[in-house]
Amino acid sequence: MRTRGLPLTALAVAAGRAVETSRADPLVADRFASALVVAARSHLDLPTVWPAEPAEAPPLQQPLLLASIYIGMRTRFIDDFLQSGPSTTQTVILGAGLDTRAFRLTWPDGARVIEIDSANVLEFKAHVLSRLSAEPGCELISLPADLSLPWREPLLGAGFDPAQPTTWVLEGLLPYLDAASQAAVLNEVAALSAPGSRAVIERAVALPETDDIEAKLREFSEQTGLPMSEVLARADPPNPVELLEPAGWRCSSHTVEELCSTYGRVLSLAAPTEAGPEATAPEQQPSDQSRGGFVTAWLE
Ligand SMILES: C[S@@+](CC[C@H](N)C(=O)[O-])C[C@H]1O[C@@H](n2cnc3c(N)ncnc32)[C@H](O)[C@@H]1O
Repeated sequence: MRTRGLPLTALAVAAGRAVETSRADPLVADRFASALVVAARSHLDLPTVWPAEPAEAPPLQQPLLLASIYIGMRTRFIDDFLQSGPSTTQTVILGAGLDTRAFRLTWPDGARVIEIDSANVLEFKAHVLSRLSAEPGCELISLPADLSLPWREPLLGAGFDPAQPTTWVLEGLLPYLDAASQAAVLNEVAALSAPGSRAVIERAVALPETDDIEAKLREFSEQTGLPMSEVLARADPPNPVELLEPAGWRCSSHTVEELCSTYGRVLSLAAPTEAGPEATAPEQQPSDQSRGGFVTAWLE
């Protein structure tokens, strides 16, 4: 099934999870990711397997293989968040894309997951997963909505109960909204949350409009076909902590370096040293200015 208008970014993230799943030491086992990428029949040659010699991969694949290291850690970090601490019956995944957590994680009895994204993304995913006879481990509600517009009424109409605590997932979404829409989404999360709610948020980071960053984004877009400069938030994204703490949330921030250290990964295609990734001094680890880290938050 080739779906017109399926965002390449959603597909690229699924490809990242497929690559991670194929590694000898995977942080994530997403058995659906590769099938989703293949079914989309993208004109891009998206990698779905970690090659024996990643540094020798074709230049077009290298940025995506590098991104897969980040995607693997990000996915695992959020999986770990969801599977630790007190769970809530309600989970809302904003900008769910080709996320398959409803199908691959263990959910408590009575769990309900609401996924919000555009209709074409949700329909494509449902079609591919049903062809694979995949069954969600929870009640799954797909809600097509534009998160840059008001979305409270459709969410309530889909069965969301604001009196119940909710777990919110914002993974890879905020960079695709302008600063005002990011603030509106975060404020709505706070407004719709009952005590006991929690959230995991991947932050957007402002990309300074320097010649260097412009050139890197242009090169990345040319190599991958992903129009990054058109979609990434460019100016003054709100800090989720500054919006949530005044609303009574307790927040913790997590850097990408923290994830690298927790999961023993280095953001590089170079082969790890024999002493392992921990042996690489922080100043030698390639930093990624386009990543803003994560915020985890709880409302008591
Ligand atoms: C980079 S993908 C990440 C998807 C998913 N969270 C994951 O990590 O696999 C970004 C997703 O956000 C969705 N998205 C972007 N802007 C949106 C909007 N205004 N309303 C609803 N969804 C949006 C896109 O359709 C896409 O599926």
